[in-house]
Amino acid sequence: MSSKKGSFIVFEGIDGSGKTTQINLLKQKIESLGIKCLDTREPSDGPIGVLIRQCLTGRMQMDEAALAALFAADRLDHINNNTNGLKSKIDEGISVISDRFILSNYAYQSVKAPLEWVMQLNSQALNTLRPDCHIFIDVAPETTLDRMANGRFQTELFENKTRLTQVREKYLELIEKLKQTENIIIIDGNSSINEIAEEIWQKVSYLFTD
Ligand code: TMP
Repeated sequence: MSSKKGSFIVFEGIDGSGKTTQINLLKQKIESLGIKCLDTREPSDGPIGVLIRQCLTGRMQMDEAALAALFAADRLDHINNNTNGLKSKIDEGISVISDRFILSNYAYQSVKAPLEWVMQLNSQALNTLRPDCHIFIDVAPETTLDRMANGRFQTELFENKTRLTQVREKYLELIEKLKQTENIIIIDGNSSINEIAEEIWQKVSYLFTD
């Protein structure tokens, strides 16, 4: 087993902000250095994540507070489960990039629930696995909704202008509030794919080079 732990990077942003594209590019870059890298997402592909996705598509109805707690429960399972939990991967020396983590829960659910309560729900996850870096890709909801209209057949629970506008405001407030304790990088998501990838690499390469 390698003695050096893997790094943990999380991507954040409103729906359609381009996280997936950038995660793929960053993963390729990390792997080109000969470093093992796993990409994952939340809601996770575990049992609680599957349940949450049914709520997002409307297949199942759920009270928003219950859904907030499910997101936090899914995160704990994502980190700690015995099959492919992230904590043990990182301890083994594998670097992990996650599409969403605690800031998603804070930003999306604090539109309807008290932020302090949502933060409390996530305190154990954060104590177990604190990201080395949160990358927030900032794009206006009008832009992401246009992008999504071209590529999707289905609209999910939060994919509307009112909610995404509120969520983006929450993200920006949170970044200000948490800047002393969390390493959060804001990236302008309106630049070209390559420019964004280059900027992200400039900010995180220190984690992968000696
Ligand atoms: P995505 O797969 O497109 O990122 O969709 C996940 C949706 O779930 C997205 O609208 C954001 C939302 N979400 C929350 O509201 N809270 C959370 O904690 C997480 C992880 C996602």
